[in-house]
Amino acid sequence: MSSSRKLLALVAAGLFSSAAAHAAEPSLGLGQTATPEQIAAWNIDARPDGVGLPEGKGSVSDGDDAYQENCAMCHGTFGEGGKYPRLAGEGKLTGDRPEQTVGSFWPYSVTLFDFINRAMPYPAPHSLPPEKVYAITAYILNQNNLVGDDFVADKNSLPKVKMPNEGGFIWKDPRPDTHDSDCMKNCRPVASVKISTTAEGSRVTPRTTGPLDTDIPQ
Ligand code: HEC
Repeated sequence: MSSSRKLLALVAAGLFSSAAAHAAEPSLGLGQTATPEQIAAWNIDARPDGVGLPEGKGSVSDGDDAYQENCAMCHGTFGEGGKYPRLAGEGKLTGDRPEQTVGSFWPYSVTLFDFINRAMPYPAPHSLPPEKVYAITAYILNQNNLVGDDFVADKNSLPKVKMPNEGGFIWKDPRPDTHDSDCMKNCRPVASVKISTTAEGSRVTPRTTGPLDTDIPQ
């Protein structure tokens, strides 16, 4: 072990032992214990299967009003977008210029609720009550022709709305893990290392440059 590695190991050991010592101390006199209400206010995630969705419900027609009031100025009256992302329309993901909408892209309807609930409206995230978020979610799903005009979203009905692109996501990363260990002695000189292949060359990661260039008329 080089002397600098030894030093690092000692510093790391020192850090761990002081962290352990701190954990044993009753209090540093800093901050305050979070109350159950504070924890509940942060614990807002809703899973695709519906776990975590709050009480409340909202219809497509209530959602129309709430959407026009809170969202249309950026995303368009019908979700057609403009300066801000498009949410609905005839989007298709096939082709060189995929059109991303909630209907063409999003894998789970509950995730739409979750995203609107935590991140929108953009200037005042998480400011809408669950009823309005349910209603706006219902309205956007309706604009994407995924639910009827009489749909009412709540914690039971929403997870049942299946999204067309659910199967379009790859949940398992097909790229191989690299297995390597640090060389500690008699290491190969860096200059002798040659790159034999790349992720792009092995076709395990999409190209980020190139293909579209060939579409540009010459
Ligand atoms: C001031 C403009 C503004 C307002 C108002 C607004 N948004 Fe957004 N919205 C944005 C921007 C900007 C993004 C992109 C944010 C990002 O990518 O991080 C976005 C992204 C989204 C997305 C994700 C789109 C996608 O497919 O990536 C959804 C869904 C959405 N907004 C819904 C809403 C809803 C519902 C409301 C009303 C409750 C709302 N937004 C209000 C500006 C706005």
